[in-house]
Parts: sequence; C-alpha cells; structure tokens
Amino acid sequence: VTSTPLPETPLSLITPESGESFFFRSSARGPDGRFAFQWRLAAGKAGPGPHVHPFESETFAVVSGRLQIFMEGRCHELGPGDVLVVPAGVTHHFGHPGTEECVVEVSMDGTRMEDQFVPLAQHFRSPSGLPLKAVPLTLVHLDHAMREGSTHADSAILRGLIRAMAAFFRLFGVRPLPPVSGWDRAVAV
Ligand SMILES: [Fe+2]
Repeated sequence: VTSTPLPETPLSLITPESGESFFFRSSARGPDGRFAFQWRLAAGKAGPGPHVHPFESETFAVVSGRLQIFMEGRCHELGPGDVLVVPAGVTHHFGHPGTEECVVEVSMDGTRMEDQFVPLAQHFRSPSGLPLKAVPLTLVHLDHAMREGSTHADSAILRGLIRAMAAFFRLFGVRPLPPVSGWDRAVAV
C-alpha cells in the first residue's frame, strides 16, 4: 500500500462526532476514473453504520492501524498493507480495534460519493470540522446524494429521518450544491 504525502492544505472534511477525517486526493472525473481520499478514523471510533453504495465499489487499503470491515456476515480484519474491495451493492460497516488512529487509502470507481463530499468540503473549507450552521445544507446534500445513488444507510428509520429533515430544510430554500470539477488539480501537490 502506497500513501503519498497529502498536499499541505488538502481539501478535507472532518466529522468529529464520528471520528472521521477525509483528505481528498483525486477525482473520478480524472484519467483513472477513481475518486480517491485518505480516510482517518480516530481511536475508539468506528465510522458510519451499515450502509451500501448501490453503483460504486469501494477499495480500502490500510496504511496504519487496524480496521475491521464487516460485509456479508463476515468480519475482515485488515492491518497495514492489506487491501479489501467492497463490491457495489454490498452492505458494509466497520470496527476499529486497538487504540491508535487508523489511516486508510480509499477509492471508489464513480463520481457519486465525490459529489456528496467534495462540494460540501469546498463550500465550508473548515479544517476543524463542519460548523453547526452546516447541518441544514449537509442534510439536504446527503438526501440528494442518496437519491442519486451514492450511499444509503441500511436502516430504513435513519433514511426516513434524513429524508424528513432534508424536506424540512428545503422548505426554507436550502438546496444541494452542484458537483465540483477540477478540485483535485487545484489542490495537487
Ligand atoms: Fe462505504
């Protein structure tokens, strides 16, 4: 597993509640057709709950720390150098054993997740985490992304909740941000 250094000021998205940091590397609109980012998971945090990307496979390459990936009733435990591909349409979630941060290089073979994350990251440009005022736009964006087939929570209750809250904020004129192209050229080393 190779992990090239991140640019000095990478485009990032930090969600302290889930202990996740995303540092974006390359666009699926680029030559290799892959949306790539470094994903860091803080000690004691296991990232998102069970979810599925209906149209995109997701490749995980662990750089440091340990990561468990649960899919199809199996737990795959990965350490540095290990790679696992979660095929499109397969529900997955994570475990994070150990007490150190886990650093993972992730890539997806499509633009849907990119269009969920990157416009928000670029809009808020907040290295300390999304501010509270980002909540309405983030929910509307997530709802839009779910409709576009980027990712779905496995829980119907959670999906319904996101949909309802997004509908509420849409009443006040909150609209999803358009896709961003060329962002990876702008932040390249
Ligand atoms: Fe995923």
